[in-house]
Amino acid sequence: MATKELKGTQTEKNICIAYLDECQSYARYNYYAQAADKEQYFPVGVIFRETANNEMHHAKVFLKMLQNTEVTTPVNVDAGFLGTTTDNLKIAMKEEKDSGYEFYMQAAATAIDEGFPEIASHFKAIAAVEKTHYDRFAKFLDMINNGTLWKREKPVTWKCLVCGYTEVGTEPPTTCPGCDHPYQHYVCVEDGYAPAQVF
Ligand SMILES: [Fe+2]
Ligand SMILES: [Fe+2]
Repeated sequence: MATKELKGTQTEKNICIAYLDECQSYARYNYYAQAADKEQYFPVGVIFRETANNEMHHAKVFLKMLQNTEVTTPVNVDAGFLGTTTDNLKIAMKEEKDSGYEFYMQAAATAIDEGFPEIASHFKAIAAVEKTHYDRFAKFLDMINNGTLWKREKPVTWKCLVCGYTEVGTEPPTTCPGCDHPYQHYVCVEDGYAPAQVF
């Protein structure tokens, strides 16, 4: 990375803001995952944890750009609040949009203007990830609100997040035949949101 040339640029400040926002998101999404688990929205807990892990890796990308620099910039703590899972999903969507893909696309344009095409391409790529985060949170919020998280009109494949047991039906089994956990541990495979391995 062009560390030396970065000094004093807006891009340097944007990278700092991005790093701090990603760290905040990492912490916040872990808290939201705990709240989802308490409400027995286990698939949402898994999604928050996976997203938190993405944000931690985004933070590392930005931190590496900042090696050997020291920047002072105002920080927006943007604490939001710790609410119910539906509240938390709404806050998370706002975060993914405002300080996520919208800010990163602006930061990419600034990086291009200031002569940092490599940094711009990272901002753009991470903006695309944040958009998928937004879409996934929106999808789960919809499913909670319209009662389809564990109930579908047509048969789908339900997968137990605990033991991996799968079963086809309009609803998951009330109790998992494999591990005896209740249905709230099931996720619909066809949604494409079954958790990825966490590194
Ligand atoms: Fe994100
Ligand atoms: Fe199970």
